[in-house]
Amino acid sequence: MKRVAIITSSDTGYRGEREDLSGPVIREIVEEAGYDTVLMEVLPDDREMLSKRMAEIADSGAAELILTTGGTGFSQRDVMPEATEDIIERRVPGIPEAMRAYSMTITKRAMLSRATAGIRKGTLIINLPGSPKAVRESLEYIIDALGHGIEILTGEASNCARK
Ligand code: MTE
Repeated sequence: MKRVAIITSSDTGYRGEREDLSGPVIREIVEEAGYDTVLMEVLPDDREMLSKRMAEIADSGAAELILTTGGTGFSQRDVMPEATEDIIERRVPGIPEAMRAYSMTITKRAMLSRATAGIRKGTLIINLPGSPKAVRESLEYIIDALGHGIEILTGEASNCARK
């Protein structure tokens, strides 16, 4: 079973001043798709803490997929794309391109998400926007395609054409 780690970037959530509603939405969608949630954490909007934690998860092989929520907008504290880019080894631009293209059929504000995605060792890392609504719209659109990518990443599948 593919393992997923969920990280929420939120200063208020980290301080316990706001309930994390988006992490549970991610969990519901991935578990419905057959993933095993191995970790759910709320961290502050701190570039170094976020990147360090994602690198630890990838380097320890704890999850094949890290999904993050929040911190992709324009606020001065929104640093999730930078934290992700600090530690990925290879970029995967097609995933955020797909999320934004689809999401812009729902709201033009989707263009305001700076979400990125990439690979570190055997782990795919994808940023999702912060609101539960945006998470659901974005993740439900991409989830079906992710499994094949992860299988290629982990060596379980090697050839797209034969699939
Ligand atoms: N994507 C979808 N599918 N649906 C949405 O409602 N909201 C947008 C965008 N992406 C939205 C969306 C808005 S209003 C913002 S500001 C950005 O995501 C960034 O969100 P974040 O700062 O919470 O990560």
